[in-house]
Amino acid sequence: MDKRAGLDPLQFRLNGRTVLIEVAPDARLSDVLRDDCGVKDVKVGCDAGDCGACTVLVDGAPVCACLTPARRVERQQIETLSGLVKNDSLTRKLAASFEAHGAAQCGICTPGMIVSASALLREVPEPTPDMVEDALGGVLCRCTGYRKIIDAVVSTHREPAPAPALTGPGHTGAAIPRVDGNAKVSGRERFGDDVAPPNALHLRIVRSPYHHARFTLGDIAGWATRIPGIETVLTARDIPGRNLFGVIPGFIDQPVFAESTCRFRGEAIAAIVGTAEAIAGLDLSGFPVTWTELPASLTPQEAQAPGASLLHDGHARNVMCGGFVSHGDASAGFDGADVTVAAEFSTAFVEHAYIEPEAGYARVADGRVEVFCCTQAPFMNLEGLMDILALPRSRIRIRPTGVGGGFGSKLDLTVQPYLALAALKTGRQVRMAYSRTESMQSSTKRHPSRISARIGADKDGTLRAMQFDGVFNTGAYASWGPTVANRVPIHASGPYRIPNYRAEAQGVYTNCPPAGAFRGFGVPQSAVAQESLLDMLADKLGMDRLDLRIQNALENGVPTVCGQVFDTGVGIRACLEALRPAWQAERQALAANRLPNGLLRGVGIGAGWYGCGNTSMPNPSTIKAGLTADGTLVLHQGAVDIGQGSNTVITQIFARAFGVPTASVRLLGGDTDFTPDAGKTSASRQTFVSGNAAQRAGEGLRRQVLERVNASETAQISLEQGLIRVTDEDRTHDIVPAQLPTDEDGYVLQAEGYYDPPTAPLDKNGQGAPYAQFGYAAHLAVVEVDPAYGTSKVIRIVAAHDVGHAINPLLVEGQIEGGVAQGLGMALMEEYHPGRTENLHDYLIPTIGDVPPIETRIIEEPDAHGPYGAKGLGEHALIPTAPAILNAIADATGVRMTELPVTPARLRAKLRQAGHG
Ligand code: FES
Ligand code: FES
Repeated sequence: MDKRAGLDPLQFRLNGRTVLIEVAPDARLSDVLRDDCGVKDVKVGCDAGDCGACTVLVDGAPVCACLTPARRVERQQIETLSGLVKNDSLTRKLAASFEAHGAAQCGICTPGMIVSASALLREVPEPTPDMVEDALGGVLCRCTGYRKIIDAVVSTHREPAPAPALTGPGHTGAAIPRVDGNAKVSGRERFGDDVAPPNALHLRIVRSPYHHARFTLGDIAGWATRIPGIETVLTARDIPGRNLFGVIPGFIDQPVFAESTCRFRGEAIAAIVGTAEAIAGLDLSGFPVTWTELPASLTPQEAQAPGASLLHDGHARNVMCGGFVSHGDASAGFDGADVTVAAEFSTAFVEHAYIEPEAGYARVADGRVEVFCCTQAPFMNLEGLMDILALPRSRIRIRPTGVGGGFGSKLDLTVQPYLALAALKTGRQVRMAYSRTESMQSSTKRHPSRISARIGADKDGTLRAMQFDGVFNTGAYASWGPTVANRVPIHASGPYRIPNYRAEAQGVYTNCPPAGAFRGFGVPQSAVAQESLLDMLADKLGMDRLDLRIQNALENGVPTVCGQVFDTGVGIRACLEALRPAWQAERQALAANRLPNGLLRGVGIGAGWYGCGNTSMPNPSTIKAGLTADGTLVLHQGAVDIGQGSNTVITQIFARAFGVPTASVRLLGGDTDFTPDAGKTSASRQTFVSGNAAQRAGEGLRRQVLERVNASETAQISLEQGLIRVTDEDRTHDIVPAQLPTDEDGYVLQAEGYYDPPTAPLDKNGQGAPYAQFGYAAHLAVVEVDPAYGTSKVIRIVAAHDVGHAINPLLVEGQIEGGVAQGLGMALMEEYHPGRTENLHDYLIPTIGDVPPIETRIIEEPDAHGPYGAKGLGEHALIPTAPAILNAIADATGVRMTELPVTPARLRAKLRQAGHG
């Protein structure tokens, strides 16, 4: 091999084959495997040794490929997930166990998990859970809560459990493995950074290093011409349409490129496009920009202080907007109450920390721009690009890739406008992936909050009144802030009957990254206040904390604080009752045992509710299905699966409605050219809203089949070797689809299902029907506190969830366990500070050792509007967790923590104040 300038030859064995290439002396093994060898099942989540997504085996030992210089593997054996699945029967068993246990959700961590676990199982075929925790401790997962991963590894040596019995035509209620699981456990899933062709140009964004600054750009063209390989530099002047994006009409306020002022650290001012080598070697210290740093407001208090500058015209005191609900007469309710409790609470910025940073690529074909990207909202992306690019809908196509976690943040535009602009300007294919730091700097976060709340009750514990005031830091731009401001006052009562209620929430602009959608839209923050106050109230009244909640729980026929009455499906009482055995057992155990080691142990309960779908706004989904001439049943399923399982759940619902097993359905995933708009994956709406649309599509297609042979509604349909067979009592009819004419989509029969939940606008007091359905949840947490260090360890969670009808109990458990892990992080460790915690080393999320065993109790109170009674679940999963943990800490220590997260330093300080040690 001739040696090229600056490159060194390198030889190693990769998944059983010999590789001989040339690499730069400082090349990372992860880059060489992905870019030079095309092994895309090696994932990169941080490039810094923090996430473990890039784990590969080098001579049998697991290593982070991102920290391993490629030259170190000379003549060594490299094994990655795809090779292990192909060559190693043990890994194949492990991958099958992952599938059967639902241990892969989005799947971005799965290669690192399975590779690490393979190394363990080679050494220890029957490991204990502790051994698994040790072996997988360096691999982060943001979706699963780890418990199913542990179960999958521990169970690998066992014979797989028999598949669940599937009864009836079609099936819901069966814990079938996800329909898209095999790609995730075998390394075939392709995410945002896996799909670009090898010769694509690369793009890098120039961002503000200041929280608030004015800037002027210099001679960019002159600078660019001095750097070989730079094709173009984009700035605001290159935007043909509107240099703004956002998600809520009336609040479209975020520039694609800042024009003269940056309002947060990490805001984009330019994008440089060039060859891979040029972009990799860029030194931005000479980029022609002159900065003038300005005073910054990082909290609502600072932004509303006298003299603070306004971030946006027309928003006095930097108030973005507010929400308000008033029911009964709160003031009179407090006057009549025997007991009141009140407190102030604060919560932190929480980073989504999905393991896949934002990524994608764009190309121009036939005058159209196509953007491949990880997204939760392809049609919203398309509409946003239409404005920015000044192009009609027909000239833009969004092609979602696999999504390595989203949790709300991948609803907003990120890489899409930059890639589309670059592809249109250069005519070339252009790719980019955010670094972990720029992902954390620029992506949306959970709103930090400051809440003051008060509850009044009668002596017997009957709630009389509640008042709630919340100020939410919405950052520099609105994003989903208006949704949070509106949703919080509706939910701040919790799932309780409160006759006199007044709640207000306000979003305030600051010089922080935009806060946006994050699992719960502000409800997890309000639940912290509400559920803490309930414990304080129970203690003041001398009542059992669970009994107090059950006594005041909402029921069918009882109005919510918006005056909305549900005749069926209010399942909070059942959720709370489901905790009673564990509550009583834990309380008895606490009374009987004092821990010998100086640790303090407590048990706490938290509850929550969540309205599924948009608040009082249209919220439709459309699902389409068709039968082809060869008898294939195709489901156009555009409800993007970001790991939560919509591909499987929507397929199950559709299959039941049509009357065939899910295995008979071929899925066509999200693509704005081929799948109708199923709305965004957020607000726990896909099972409910898109599920209804899928049910209608299935029923519509079934009707057409039955009508064609004049069969009764109870007839059975089967798809057999190019035939549609209809069995109606003792008669059998065969339809030969090949003999039928096809329509313009290539179908012989097709149907579309459309569903928009029935909601009604809120009046000026927030009275109305904001949601067609609510889901309900209650969690119990057992926590041990070490008073010497202020550390809190959660050792048990019991999670009861009313899901109406569990379409897939395996996925229900997965959502709950993942939500609990995120709630635990919010309670105990997660705190984003712009400029200080912009990586997964300084910003901590729960690891496999932090998440305790989670016992799920599924409650099924059928919903009047849900498909087969089902309710949404994604958001509810974490709402009760943080309050349950806080209440357990208070139970253990007698100290009420009101500032989240409860870090060891904060808890130790409060314990000292209270006289502990
Ligand atoms: Fe290597 Fe995160 S990408 S540890
Ligand atoms: Fe682990 Fe998504 S399944 S990060």
